[in-house]
Amino acid sequence: MIPSATVLHTVAQQAARCAGEHVLTCLARRNDTVQVLRHDIKHKLDLEAQQAATATIRAAFPDHAILGEETAHAPLPDTAVRWVIDPIDGTINFTHGLPIWCCSVAAQVNEQTVAGAVFAPELGLLFEAQAGGPARCNGRLIRVSGTDRLDQALVHTGADRDDLSKNSFRFFNRLAELAQRPRIMGAAALDICWVAAGMADAYFESGIYIWDMAAAGLILTCAGGTCEVLQAYPHYKMAVLASNGNLQPPLRNTLMPMLAAQYSGGCAPAGSASP
Ligand code: IPD
Ligand code: CA
Repeated sequence: MIPSATVLHTVAQQAARCAGEHVLTCLARRNDTVQVLRHDIKHKLDLEAQQAATATIRAAFPDHAILGEETAHAPLPDTAVRWVIDPIDGTINFTHGLPIWCCSVAAQVNEQTVAGAVFAPELGLLFEAQAGGPARCNGRLIRVSGTDRLDQALVHTGADRDDLSKNSFRFFNRLAELAQRPRIMGAAALDICWVAAGMADAYFESGIYIWDMAAAGLILTCAGGTCEVLQAYPHYKMAVLASNGNLQPPLRNTLMPMLAAQYSGGCAPAGSASP
């Protein structure tokens, strides 16, 4: 039997909190890395936070599939409900001591997100929603901005770590030309939640993964915005445009031809086989 969205919503919040609170008790271990790569960091607390979220979910639903960033290559059972976890989104920020990071947990039924929670422990923010309901931050209703002019919009973005020297900054440059200002904050789930809360007007990034956006995308939709996969790549990688809704058509019209030109012939961005 498929649990109700309300039950899944409760467990999603518990799991995100559990992961975040574990990390919060380990701030002295910010440098406890497993591997420091050229443009990425694998952190021991990534693994531990995923285990904490997984334990919470398993206690309620022992048989559900759990897709976590840290175990993304493991085969998943074929279940109607799938959980999607990003244990620390913004690992590089976290390791350097910046508080802009979060734990993201989504519950999906037949690959549609029905409940999501994004917890930013050092910022003291819990964003959450369930399909068909409102979006909240720390229990307060949130809503997207009403901005319909790109030249007055704050547009968050990010750079694909597998493609830093080539295409990412073409997108950044174009967004900088069009927007009031572009921003790179370093945690995609929070970027999307800030659009949901009306603190940013749009977010675009080519090269994020499903665990970066599953929970936050639902939160944004429930806050009146739009979260759209402009292009899907292998292994859960994608290009995502999220906005207050008003800015979706002009941004899509600008970005789609750039994406098409970049990957014409169906080529995925470099590194897409190894999330
Ligand atoms: C990353 C962050 C970053 C985005 C990358 C993501 P991670 O997630 O969300 O802002 O630019 O594309 O992979 O590696 O910190 O979990
Ligand atoms: Ca992430």
